[in-house]
Amino acid sequence: MTPVATARALGEKAQRMIDALTAISASPDHLTRLYLTPEHKRAAELVGEWMREAGLSTRLDAAGTMRGSMPPGRAGRSGNKALLIGSHIDTVINAGRYDGNLGVVVGILAVETLKARGVALPFGIDILAFGDEEGVRFPVTLTTSAVTAGVFDPKALDITDDADITLRDALIAFGGDPARLKEEAYQRPSVLGYLEVHIEQGPVLERAQEPLGVVTAIASQSRHRIRIKGEAGHAGTVPMNMRHDALAAAAEIILAIEAIAKKDKKNSLVATVGHVEVMPGASNVIPADVRFSLDVRAANDRARQEAVEAITLVARKVDKTRHVVVGVETMLEKPVATCGARLQKAIGKAVTTVQGEPARSLMSGAGHDGQSMAHLGEFGMIFVRCRAGISHNPAEFVTIDDMGLAVEALVETILELARQEEQP
Ligand code: GLV
Ligand code: MN
Ligand code: MN
Repeated sequence: MTPVATARALGEKAQRMIDALTAISASPDHLTRLYLTPEHKRAAELVGEWMREAGLSTRLDAAGTMRGSMPPGRAGRSGNKALLIGSHIDTVINAGRYDGNLGVVVGILAVETLKARGVALPFGIDILAFGDEEGVRFPVTLTTSAVTAGVFDPKALDITDDADITLRDALIAFGGDPARLKEEAYQRPSVLGYLEVHIEQGPVLERAQEPLGVVTAIASQSRHRIRIKGEAGHAGTVPMNMRHDALAAAAEIILAIEAIAKKDKKNSLVATVGHVEVMPGASNVIPADVRFSLDVRAANDRARQEAVEAITLVARKVDKTRHVVVGVETMLEKPVATCGARLQKAIGKAVTTVQGEPARSLMSGAGHDGQSMAHLGEFGMIFVRCRAGISHNPAEFVTIDDMGLAVEALVETILELARQEEQP
C-alpha cells in the first residue's frame, strides 16, 4: 500500500473508501445496510481487506464485528494492552454515507499512517467495525459492541425483526455463533481505552466554523414500543361516536409526545415516533391495531425518565377516554455515558494541534458504540463537522479536508497516549 502523508491525501483516500462502502447496499437507489444482512457481510469483508492491507490481522467475530489487530511495536508500561478504535458499518434506511462508516475508515487510515511514519507503539491497536449501532433491523441497539464489552443480554437473541426472524437465526444465517457471544468479550485489564471518530450529526461545529470537536458525553436514551388495540369496523357505517379507532388514539398520543418534549427548556429532551404500523391498513376499515416506536433522549437520566412517565400517563388517559387498550413496552434504556477525562484531554490536545485553534467540547445527542464500550474502561470520541448538521439522510456530507484532519487528529491522539506511557 502506498504510504499516505498529507491530510488532503488522507481525506481523498477516505473519500474513495467511503464511496466503495456506499456501493454496498440493499437497494441500488439508496444506501441501506442493516445488521446481519448480505450487504453487512460484504461491507465487513471489504473492511477486512483494507485492514489486512494496513497490516492488521483480521477476524469476523461471532456477533459480526470485523476486528483488525496490531500487536504492540515495542515494550511499554501498558504491556499487552490494546487501544480499541471503532465505529459501525450498519446504516439506517436511506442513509447518509458517513455515519459510522467514516469512523471505521479513519481508524484504518490512522493505523496505516502510523505504520507509514515508522511509529512503534507501546500498546496494541484493535480496529473494530461494529455491525449494529443503529438498531434498525431489531428493536435493540449496540448489539455488537455490547458483545465486545461483555454486556450483551442473551435474552435479546429471541427478539424478532419485521419478518419475524429472531436475532439468533439471523446471526446463524450470517455465519455468526450465538453460543460463542460471551467468549467474544474483552477483559477490562487488557483494554487501554476505546476511541471513536464520528460525524457530529448536528450543527454546532459547522456554526462555529471548526472541523473537529471533543465529545464530553452521550445522551441518556430509551426506546419503547407502544401498541394500541381498538376495533375494526366499516368506514362507511360506524358512527363517529361509536368507534374505537386505534390510529386516532395513536395520533393523540403522538402529539402529546411532541408537546411533552417541546415543553423542556433545559435538558435537551427530544422524543421521536419514527415507525408506525397500522392494521389492517385499508382505506375503508377503521384501524384496529396500531404499533409505533418511541425514542426519548435527554442530557440527563432523570429528565428522560420523567418524560417517559408523562408519556405513559397520557397513554393511560387515552386508553380510558377512547376505549382502546394501550400498552407501553420498554425495549432499551441507556444512561448518560460520560467520556473519560484522560481521553477527552488527549483528544482536546490533538484536535487543537491539528485544526490550529482550541478544541470545542460538545455533548452527543446521538447514540454511539461508546455507550457499550464504556463498560470496558474509558472511552473518547472525536466529532467531525458535517454539512448543516444533517444526518440519517442521504444529504449527509463531510468535506475531504475535514476527513483528512480527522485522520490526523486520531493519529495525534494515539501518539499523545503513547507519550503518556513514557511519563513517570
Ligand atoms: C443512532 O444513530 C442513534 O442515535 O439512534
Ligand atoms: Mn452512528
Ligand atoms: Mn446513525
